[in-house]
Amino acid sequence: MSIISNCTASVIKDSAAALVKGDLVAFPTETVYGLGADATNKDAIARIYKVKGRPVGHPLIVHISSLGNLDKWARDIPEYAVSLARAFWPGPMTLILPRTDLAKNFITGGQDNVGIRVPSHTVALALLKEFEGQGGLGVAAPSANRFGAVSPTTAAAVKIELADFLSESDQILDGGACLVGVESTIINCTQNKPSILRPGAVTKEMIENTLGITFYLDTSNYESTQIKVAGSLESHYAPNAKIFLAGSPTLGDGFIALDSFTTPAGAIRVAAPKTNEEYAQVLYEAFRLADFKGIERVFVIPPTGDGIAVAINDRLSKSAFEK
Ligand code: TXA
Ligand code: MG
Repeated sequence: MSIISNCTASVIKDSAAALVKGDLVAFPTETVYGLGADATNKDAIARIYKVKGRPVGHPLIVHISSLGNLDKWARDIPEYAVSLARAFWPGPMTLILPRTDLAKNFITGGQDNVGIRVPSHTVALALLKEFEGQGGLGVAAPSANRFGAVSPTTAAAVKIELADFLSESDQILDGGACLVGVESTIINCTQNKPSILRPGAVTKEMIENTLGITFYLDTSNYESTQIKVAGSLESHYAPNAKIFLAGSPTLGDGFIALDSFTTPAGAIRVAAPKTNEEYAQVLYEAFRLADFKGIERVFVIPPTGDGIAVAINDRLSKSAFEK
């Protein structure tokens, strides 16, 4: 496995060829790093599950370079989904749509829906374009972490997560730290109205403004949906340290809060973001830092309000040991 930090056109060409060949290529997106494989190659997809230690049957998101390729993977696309794609692609949004025959059971977990995203990170887009230029149709890419662990937002974090499981010919492309820092918004577009299955940087307010509608985001409803979605399991997005969303840290405990909160005496500050956007950006690295320092308990003051705070709180509640 090699980490490549200077993603020139010739590097991208090589990486796309590696994908065509059936190798895995971890690459940066604006949300988190993804572990990519040719979405039509059953064996390559099987390796993703193995490398992640992910139970089979959890569907994967297919990444494409533009809206123009959407109808290869999805059919019966509602008008509102096209409006969302026009407004937010390339960007941190995944649409769940009825699948075409191209989206096999090994991608969709046997469901009749497929998740599709056009990421905006320049390295991701270049890789997808080049892959399609070499005859590829889409790149399946879950977050490049071991199952249940924290998503990586740097190439170094991908290495920590997956180096032991990748093969010599697999690659990690380094495109710097991810700007958004939490995974894409997942929107179910299989019904006559959209619903949010996983909150992200494309917020409920942004969707409502684009479509001229109002809807509820009921995260407690995840479990009851027919659709299998990330984080519906008890422990997800979790570091080794135990995360506490209430109570006060004591000597040697970690502490995460907005910059405006002072660090309690004896606590070890692992993040002090100035805004909620920055909070999302640094949260997973803060978790990793806590683990690196051997901190056993991290106390978090969650952000408040709408927008990206909803996504942060969603991930925090799933990573928390005690709420
Ligand atoms: O920001 C992101 O979405 C990142 C980057 C790499 O694009 N990817 C990501 O993938 O977070 P992953 O696999 O870690 O989480 C995506 C979740 C899966 O857990 C799955 O439950 C849900 O998306 N998903 C994918 N395809 C689906 C489908 N057809 N129906 C319902 N949920 C789906
Ligand atoms: Mg994930």
